[in-house]
Amino acid sequence: MKLLVTGGAGFIGANFVRLTLDTRPDVTVTVLDLLTYAGNTASVPDDPRVTLVKGDIADPELVDSLVREHDAVVHFAAESHNDNSLDDPWPFVHTNLVGTFQLLEAARRHQTRFHHVSTDEVYGDLDLDDPAKFTPETPYNPSSPYSSTKAGSDLMVRAWVRSFGLQATISNCSNNYGPLQHVEKFIPRQITNLLDGVRPKLYGAGLNVRDWIHVDDHNRAVWTILERGRIGETYLIGADGEVDNRTVIETILELMGHEPTDYEHVADRPGHDLRYAIDATKLREELGWEPVYGDFRAGLAATIAWYRANESWWRPQKLETELRYQRLGR
Ligand code: NAD
Ligand code: DAU
Repeated sequence: MKLLVTGGAGFIGANFVRLTLDTRPDVTVTVLDLLTYAGNTASVPDDPRVTLVKGDIADPELVDSLVREHDAVVHFAAESHNDNSLDDPWPFVHTNLVGTFQLLEAARRHQTRFHHVSTDEVYGDLDLDDPAKFTPETPYNPSSPYSSTKAGSDLMVRAWVRSFGLQATISNCSNNYGPLQHVEKFIPRQITNLLDGVRPKLYGAGLNVRDWIHVDDHNRAVWTILERGRIGETYLIGADGEVDNRTVIETILELMGHEPTDYEHVADRPGHDLRYAIDATKLREELGWEPVYGDFRAGLAATIAWYRANESWWRPQKLETELRYQRLGR
């Protein structure tokens, strides 16, 4: 099988390529990645079964020639950070909407199997005491330029399935953690701040809840859907990992040998979603997927160990990232 993985130099895509090499000996991978600030060649395995093509998913000729040569596309590439989308929405429109459009058109022309990787943020947020979780039937209600462009891309995939018979599936996953995540994101930012002797930064009161899942559990679910998912269906991916941000910061501090209270409050994110929670019953019952990483604290400890051991990977991103946060007042 020849697989085209968009965004394979980013956090989840690169972990997906690594998982694929480890578990699918019959698969070769082409990574299509623009290598934006979020893409890192050091994340792409140096392996004869992997080819890296630097290019834009919104480039119709490049996308057409690559999709034509592959059996399936797994589409991770995106502008993925909410804070950046609030600062400058345009790259999100370009990549998440126009880029996805070009990929869908190429997959339509060449009748290529397509899996679209999306987010739980398309559903908006939940109250803290709401017993409900997101299901595939929850109405779309995105809050930020990031989540609204992801929502738009999901709706295009659905329309291409219905009107053009595209062989596509969609997955909407909750917050991922694990190795190779850019230091702009919540967990790696706090770990690398502490390694630099800087206090962790909590937005607002820190009551916001995220539903954490290990990146390998997400990627195993993507493979499950690619192999056994029903065409046209949406599967929600989550591992019942709800934790509020304050608890995450306190746990990181404790695991790294600091006082759990040794963090600072910074300005809140505008429009900050309060709570995400995934009901993954459909994925579990229909396709038999189960998460492997049940213990968030143990997963966090392993992630901290990874950042400690891999400073050469994250160091080049750190200064620029913190200067951007300084400008945003966070
Ligand atoms: P990331 O920002 O770490 O990586 C994105 C990758 O896409 C980078 O390598 C970047 O260079 C590449 N890219 C950006 N614009 C491109 C373009 N125009 N053409 C080609 N490549 C381009 O993101 P991530 O966290 O790995 O997220 C991957 C996907 O998973 C995204 O679609 C995101 O919406 C989705 N998702 C992420 C999470 C999460 O917690 N991180 C959760 C659910 C879903
Ligand atoms: O839910 C899935 C989504 O999870 C993905 O679609 C996005 O691509 C991914 O970035 C993530 O979005 P969040 O906005 O939830 O992730 P982020 O890591 O930016 O922030 C997590 C929470 O932590 C959020 O409530 C904001 C807060 N936060 C973040 C940073 C960077 C802080 O309190 N301090 C920080 O320094």
